[in-house]
This record gives sequence, structure tokens and C-alpha cells, in this order.
Amino acid sequence: MSEELYNNEVAFELQPKVIDESRQGEALASAHPKNVKSNGKKFYIESYGCQMNFADSEVVASILNSAGFHATTEFIDADLILINTCAIRENAEQRIRHRLQHFRGVKKRKKGALIGVLGCMAERLKEQFLEQEKIVDIVAGPDAYRALPGLIEEAGSGQKAVNVLLSREETYAEISPVRLNSNGITAFISIMRGCDNMCAFCVVPFTRGRERSRDWKSIVAEAKDLYEQGYREVTLLGQNVDSYRYSDDPTLIGKKLLEAKYHEGVVNFAGLMEKVALVAPDLRVRFSTSHPKDMTDDVLHMMARYPNICKYVHLPVQSGNSRILEMMNRTYDRQWYIQRIEAIKRIVPDAAISTDIISGFCSETEEEHQDTLSMMEYVKYSMAYMFVYSERPGTVAAKKYKDDVPEEVKKRRLQEIVDIHRIHALELNKEDVGKIFEVLIEGVSARNNMELYGRNTQNKVIVFPKGDLKPGTYVNVLVTSCTSGTLIGTVVKD
Ligand code: SAH
Ligand code: SF4
Ligand code: F3S
Repeated sequence: MSEELYNNEVAFELQPKVIDESRQGEALASAHPKNVKSNGKKFYIESYGCQMNFADSEVVASILNSAGFHATTEFIDADLILINTCAIRENAEQRIRHRLQHFRGVKKRKKGALIGVLGCMAERLKEQFLEQEKIVDIVAGPDAYRALPGLIEEAGSGQKAVNVLLSREETYAEISPVRLNSNGITAFISIMRGCDNMCAFCVVPFTRGRERSRDWKSIVAEAKDLYEQGYREVTLLGQNVDSYRYSDDPTLIGKKLLEAKYHEGVVNFAGLMEKVALVAPDLRVRFSTSHPKDMTDDVLHMMARYPNICKYVHLPVQSGNSRILEMMNRTYDRQWYIQRIEAIKRIVPDAAISTDIISGFCSETEEEHQDTLSMMEYVKYSMAYMFVYSERPGTVAAKKYKDDVPEEVKKRRLQEIVDIHRIHALELNKEDVGKIFEVLIEGVSARNNMELYGRNTQNKVIVFPKGDLKPGTYVNVLVTSCTSGTLIGTVVKD
């Protein structure tokens, strides 16, 4: 596989954020809260996978800070090394195993240093992790982070510590995440956890458990707090944000909650979006991920109603062929997906649409692959995360179907998907040349420190000369040229 494709594969994040791709595997640091007594111990945390995992690491940092630990960006200095892992594809797990090998040396040099594995791979492998990777001391699943201080203590006394219990209630609602290596302008807010869909290829329902929504009041409070600290964009995160549903009434659970009406105090995703949009008119609101089966018109109308709800929808298609979609258990077909795209184009005409695509799912024929390409032609995605199918143990697909598309065919199909996407991205960017966009400035461009970058409402990255402008402010930019990945422009003075 070419380096480029490999990068594309590793760059997956639930919320596509171009500038965040470099965060894969990044060490995160934060200031220590002043009101907590330090225990003199330092932790280092590295995150992989989707934005939910990065957001979870911020919850973990908060829990550890409260227990007296300081964060460090140098694992060499750490008493505790944590890796927040992803299990979505085989190569995601491989990368983590390699990384663990690196930490072997640290453990040898530093007596008493502990290594903990968190997140989805921890949940998938449970105790097996300890047998497979002898250097690991702690294994904690995504719903067990409150137990971490206890697990660390246990491991410190020489026992191996494991907690992989999944919960039906845990949302870490009142834990205020410690923003790690943040740009101070854009932040993620987890609005729900888990997933109740059973897409045949996907390991997430097994690693993150049942779907549950976080109390909207704590979400709005977090957004307000971020705004007061100077943040100007929040992204609401969930595996399927359209099924967000919260009620204070503890008797409203399961089917009852689904059937309850809004006037009975139930807040759905459209309602939540509105509440967050009302925090401040200059706080941008994004969200990810939308599921084609659940994305209703009321969500789209809410997007259209509020200028600060960004005009951008990430709507993973996975395949353009109805037979494959059925085997994938996506619960929609090609026609339904097209009808959702039509709804977006009708209700939010200026919205950009992005997607996730899997090439070479079990039994996919050449013609069925062509349906994916023609779907891409029809939608013209501004951004896409494209993957080769990777069989995951325990999933419906692993149990029921044969992973029978040869590796080289999967890769060739992926290459065709990537090539078409690139043409579309360039075409769409060219259409933006000559247009003026409001851009939220996020920072100094990595390529040229005389330039700033930010994004427009459609989530496109725009680079422009710095002048005396500051990150965290809005500016109008005229697009003068582009590549397939970036718009290039000049500032328009009003
Ligand atoms: N909840 C989101 C996606 C979460 S996983 C949704 O339903 O859209 C992110 C993406 O990883 C998926 O959209 C899919 O394209 C890809 N993916 C998941 N499992 C995979 C597998 N076994 N092989 C290859 N890609 C996979
Ligand atoms: Fe996985 Fe499907 Fe849930 Fe997305 S909706 S996390 S792909 S099971
Ligand atoms: Fe995210 Fe990977 Fe888990 S994509 S939900 S960290 S398996």
C-alpha cells in the first residue's frame, strides 16, 4: 500500500478535522489544577482512534488530576504511561502493539513505572491483553475511567489491575474535561456514549457498549464554560448523534423514551443543537457523526435556522450498493441515502457533505464497487475517510460472512475511490475560488509562519496572510486559489 493511502487509512477520526490529523498518537499535557494536592507522580497519555477517544483522554486527565497526578508530555519522565487505544481496524491495533514495545525500555530504566492501556482495544481484549503484552499493568475500558485511581494503586502494589465493565449509565456528565494541548479555540464535547446499531463490520458496539445520552444541561454548561474561556467552536460528538435523546424522568427508558414527546421534557438532537447554538451567536456548533437512517429533516431545519450551526454534514455511506448495505446491516439502502442527500441539498443548500467508505466488504463484486463510485459522482463529497475492509473478531460479519475479496482487489478498489474523491475535492474547491467566506482563525499555518489558517462553515481549511489578525477571531477571506485539500485566500476588510 502506498504511503499516501496508508496515511489516509491512519488519519481516520470521527470528526474529520484536517489540522487534527497530526494528533494521532500525540502526547497530551495540561496545567495542574491549583486546588488539588499533588501526589508527586506524573502521567503521560497518548491517544489513538476517533475524536471520542481524544475527548475521553481529557476526562481521564481530569480524573487523574483530581487524584493528585500531574500530566507530562515526556514519557521518559512519567510514573504512569497511558495509551488510549482504538480497535476499529487490524492495523490500528498493530500500531498500538508497536508503540507498547517502545515503552518497554522506559519500564526497564524507571523502577516502579506503570503502563496502562485504555479505550477500545483494552475493552476488546480484556485480561488477554496482560497475557499478550507482559509489560502492561493496567487495563481499563471506556466506562471504567472513574476507577483508574484505584486501579493505579492496585497495580502499584504489584498486582495486575483490570476493569472492563461496560455501563448503561456512565456519561462522565459532571466531569469537566481537562483540555489537553488545546488550541484554546475549538473543542469537542461528548454528548453520548456507546452505539446501539449493529453494523456487521463494526467493533464499536462491543468496545463501547450500549448507547446512552448525556444530560443536556451538563452539555450546555460545558459549552458555556468553553465560550467564557475564549473558545469559539464546539463539536458535539457521538457515534450516532441523531439518536441523542435525554429526559430527566428516570422512568423514561428504552422504548418509552423513544416514544415520549418533546413537550414531556424530552430533548432530542435538534433540540440539543438549538440549546447549544443559543449559548452565543459567535460560538460555532458542529456535530459528528450523523447516521443516514436517523438524520431527520428537523435536524436539517435547525441547521438552516441558526447561522452559527455549521453547514457541514458528515454522513458515512460505507457503500453505494444496496445489497452490500444490507449485508453491512446499515438499515438503509442506496435510494434512502440519496433521498437524505436530496434533503440536505434542499434544506441546507450551502452545506458541504463528507463521508466514510469501506472498500472490499465481504462478497463485494466489481459492479457493486462501481455503485460506490457512482454514488461518489452523485454526491461529490468535500471530504472522505476511505478504508479497506478489515475483519474484526466477534462482529456479525466475522461470524456470518467470508472475508473473500482478495487484499490486492480491496486495495485497488480503495485506490479508485481515493482517486475519484481527490478529483471531486479539487473540483469543489475550484468552485470556491472567487467566493468570500467567514473564517474562524485557529492558528498559524504549519507550513508558513507568516500565514494563518482557519475553517469556513463548510469545514474547509483556508490559509491566508497573517497581517495583525489573531486566532480566535472571525475574518472574511476571499478565496484566490486552491489545492484539493486547502483554499488559499486574502483577507477582505469590511
Ligand atoms: N459511528 C460512525 C462511524 C464509526 S467507525 C458511523 O456509523 O458512521 C468510523 C468508520 O470506520 C466507519 O464509518 C467505517 O467506515 C470505518 N470502519 C469501521 N469498521 C471497519 C472495519 N472493520 N474495516 C474497515 N473500516 C471500518
Ligand atoms: Fe459502528 Fe455502525 Fe455504530 Fe457507527 S453506527 S459505531 S459503524 S455500529
Ligand atoms: Fe473510536 Fe476506535 Fe473506539 S474509532 S470508538 S477509538 S474503536
